[in-house]
Amino acid sequence: GAAVEVDISSLKPGDKMTVEWRGKPVWILRRTPEMLATLKKTDAEVADPKSLRTAYPTPEYAQNEWRSIKEEFLVVVGICTHLGCSPVDRLQTGPQPSLPDNWEGGFFCPCHGSTFDMAGRVFKNKPAPDNLEVPPYMYLSDAKMLIG
Ligand code: FES
Repeated sequence: GAAVEVDISSLKPGDKMTVEWRGKPVWILRRTPEMLATLKKTDAEVADPKSLRTAYPTPEYAQNEWRSIKEEFLVVVGICTHLGCSPVDRLQTGPQPSLPDNWEGGFFCPCHGSTFDMAGRVFKNKPAPDNLEVPPYMYLSDAKMLIG
């Protein structure tokens, strides 16, 4: 079937892995407590804090503070909701010249400058119309996830 089973047991805090699901890259990021703490701050800075927009409807189980089933693990499609470019990870690429020094991430789309927080929520006044898509997923165990 189209569902993909993923072993997340080797993912360390702060690590992100990418798996392919229906030809799309799905990111699984194991967020640190520091990353999770940034969400309190960005809550007021993102366009749709509660993920109520419907261009890429957020599943009910992710319409929460963390946009995820388990707060530690962010699971999103790594494709910009504007025109489909690939956002980059602030932590992997270092500071971007067009972003303020105090920008803590998480993701930056180099095509037209949309930025997304550590829950994949788009910041206000950016071209992307919606938060990063949360794919259908579930946990099979603590170590295994099923995407799709
Ligand atoms: Fe990402 Fe336009 S495609 S901002």
